[in-house]
Amino acid sequence: MSALQFPHQFTWENDHKMLPATKVKDRFLAEFGQAPAFIVRAPGRVNLIGEHTDYNDGFVFPMAIDRATWIALRPRGDKRVLAISIDMDDRREFPLDGLPRPAETRWIDYLIGVAWSLQERGYALCGWEGAISGDVPIGSGLSSSAALELAAARAFYCVSDFEWEAPALALACQAAENDWLGVNCGIMDQMISAAGIEERALLIDCRSLETTSAPLPDGMAVVILDTGTRRGLVDSAYNERRAQCEAAARHFGLTALRDIDLASFGRRAHELDELSRKRARHVISENERTLRARDAMNAGDAAALGKLMIESHISLRDDFEVSSAALDAIVACANAEEACYGARMTGAGFGGCAVALVRADAAQGFAERVAANYQAAAGVEPALYVTRASRGAETVYRAAGL
Ligand code: GLA
Repeated sequence: MSALQFPHQFTWENDHKMLPATKVKDRFLAEFGQAPAFIVRAPGRVNLIGEHTDYNDGFVFPMAIDRATWIALRPRGDKRVLAISIDMDDRREFPLDGLPRPAETRWIDYLIGVAWSLQERGYALCGWEGAISGDVPIGSGLSSSAALELAAARAFYCVSDFEWEAPALALACQAAENDWLGVNCGIMDQMISAAGIEERALLIDCRSLETTSAPLPDGMAVVILDTGTRRGLVDSAYNERRAQCEAAARHFGLTALRDIDLASFGRRAHELDELSRKRARHVISENERTLRARDAMNAGDAAALGKLMIESHISLRDDFEVSSAALDAIVACANAEEACYGARMTGAGFGGCAVALVRADAAQGFAERVAANYQAAAGVEPALYVTRASRGAETVYRAAGL
């Protein structure tokens, strides 16, 4: 395996970022006595703006991050999958015919769910065996689930005979999560993990799944601020928010809140009760902010982008009510820094991560100060990462002749 070559984008400055790739390659070799036929990866994500808009057919603006799930694998001829999770210290096997329904959700059920969903959609799958590892922190709101799903889909793609179309594969992985694992998520996480572009954020129209990309304004870095707190009742609160949004859309006779602008909403907002009005106002204003964020990115206007991020956080906190004391504290610490253009909670909320737009030359010092100030204020140790936009799911290694 000394000849293993990675494409140019994997020459990160930090050697440790290569760790999952090396781990899966070495474990595969130890387990199967030969080099893998393929190595695939699929990234986690951070959303710059456009929160709780995806399930309202709206707009989101995430980027795929430089943390991912990796699988080293080879094909099998017997329509079975054997997967070794290095991080979970576990190995599991399942047949592609007669997939076992989970009683509870274990890591392997993400793979089974993806196999189920792909087969439901008519993809003819072949089996594989391999080793899995990743460096997307689990449960912190950076979409480790979507990374695992898309990495599994990419593994099936390598050994089977179908076209890789990012939106179709993202939809299949979302269905695995919705209909097999019973988690009611929108399309954002799977779509960005499937379609991310190096050094660019992706504006996704969650109705058409059309994407347009934009680079960060010059000299800017994105810093992920993990509060170190984990979401508690997030699933029930998430489902409740979805139902409230759907009810508000129904009230206006619309398919989704995507279909009304802020001005029209302003004229009819009084028809809704106060809670529904706040929920709807967040979604409708967030869609407008997200499109303005695209314009700010295209104009290279970091100040405008940062201001929209700050407004997004306020709307999520006050109107959508999905922030938390820890998220508000870390966002306040970030916004107090001179190098920060704007910070907001990111993902579903109630804990997990915030995201900040920061001057790249000051990002390291920013991260150190925010970590210290937040820990002093909240009494919890955070984790801060300066991140980069990476590519979506891909095959990074294919043995010669395959
Ligand atoms: C979670 C879901 C996404 C999206 C965000 C909120 O991450 O998986 O589909 O709804 O919350 O923007």
